[in-house]
Amino acid sequence: MHVAALEWLTFGLARMTEAAHRRGLTLHLLTADRTEYASELRRIPPGHLVVHDVDTSDATRVAKQLRTIHGLAGLISTTDVGSRVALEVAAELGLPSQNADAVRLARDKAALRRHLHGAGLSRASQVTVDPFAPDAAAVSGTLSYPAVLKDVSGTGSEGVWIAYGPDDVPGILGAARNGRLRGGALTAEPYFTGPLYSAETLSWDGETRLLGVSSRLLSPLPYFREEGEAFPVALPAPRREELSAWVSAVLDGIGHRGFSHTEFIVTDDGFEIVEINPRMGGGLIGELLCGAFDADIHAAFVDMALGNRPALFDAPLVPVRGMSEVHLIADRTGVFDGFEGEHLLTGHPGSPRLHSARVPGQTVDSITDWRGSVGSVLAEGDTAELAMHNAAAAARLVRPRII
Ligand SMILES: Nc1ncnc2c1ncn2[C@@H]1O[C@H](COP(=O)(O)OP(=O)(O)OP(=O)(O)O)[C@@H](O)[C@H]1O
Ligand SMILES: [Mg+2]
Repeated sequence: MHVAALEWLTFGLARMTEAAHRRGLTLHLLTADRTEYASELRRIPPGHLVVHDVDTSDATRVAKQLRTIHGLAGLISTTDVGSRVALEVAAELGLPSQNADAVRLARDKAALRRHLHGAGLSRASQVTVDPFAPDAAAVSGTLSYPAVLKDVSGTGSEGVWIAYGPDDVPGILGAARNGRLRGGALTAEPYFTGPLYSAETLSWDGETRLLGVSSRLLSPLPYFREEGEAFPVALPAPRREELSAWVSAVLDGIGHRGFSHTEFIVTDDGFEIVEINPRMGGGLIGELLCGAFDADIHAAFVDMALGNRPALFDAPLVPVRGMSEVHLIADRTGVFDGFEGEHLLTGHPGSPRLHSARVPGQTVDSITDWRGSVGSVLAEGDTAELAMHNAAAAARLVRPRII
């Protein structure tokens, strides 16, 4: 039997391939650019993964390619940009899929905010702004400040701006017009102040299980680049209960099925959602979960792709260690040429390991969003806090070379 993945996250493809292989399944990757997975592909034993080069933004071509795979039983989608095509193709080929309405709602940040506000799960609503509309700047008088203006279907912290006051809005609209707007419009909402976390969850049949909470360290403003994550954050039991009930209400309320990570800010007035991602966290989040639980959570992707309740949902999950990732950020755009200092990781506490997101020769187009992260140092510790200190200390030793 065969399962297919429509693109994948930066990391985790090798683990996913092995999870499928252990179940006697062959994994197929459909990708528009296999060089994105160069580091992962090097770790996959020959014959375990079949790579298909196809324009993954085109549902017709994807469906045509999938029809060539005899015995295809499921389609896995883990990326924001591929999520809509995956739903369309799964419906056409009669394959199990996520709840289409939930994915569509989560991928429209304006509609999601209105939904949450209407359901009493967010204090604020939003205003949709078409940056090309002649009177777009007029909206500046109606916002409360500081405000965030972001791509309604953004990903990777591209197309996110903070406006401290009305005077900032025209410049932001200009930048949005010149940039890559995936959703074609911006959503404006209040800037919630506080630290950012993410609830890592698995949902099935109207129930949500909180696997744990990961932390997020961000770059200094005006950018929102993620620079570090740790898992599992030790919340006091009542806080965890409160969070678990809240995130279940949010996800079950939209009918989500599968992995998800709900990013939220802890404000002085309670939790505020930043966004719901109907997929597992990016970067090395999958690796952090596997390490913390000493279990391979990718088997759940196989279960769900086949339309079955994931065994992970009912498995006892007790964290055995903390895990953290600290990103290695390019200091300028250019061509990535490898890392300096990797040898210094030997003997450093926390068993740090370098994970490269790029292969030498690839270009770094931007350093203000996810594209600036060319790799990460992953480290462990007795707790998430100690893992984060180990990863941060170790990451200082390694420097991306850009030429
Ligand atoms: N209303 C808000 N208040 C405060 N910060 C916000 C708000 N909305 C977005 N942000 C910040 O901007 C970042 C990016 O926003 P968001 O998560 O919606 O976009 P994204 O591009 O989908 O992110 P990802 O990198 O997770 O794919 C968030 O991580 C958060 O730090
Ligand atoms: Mg986000």
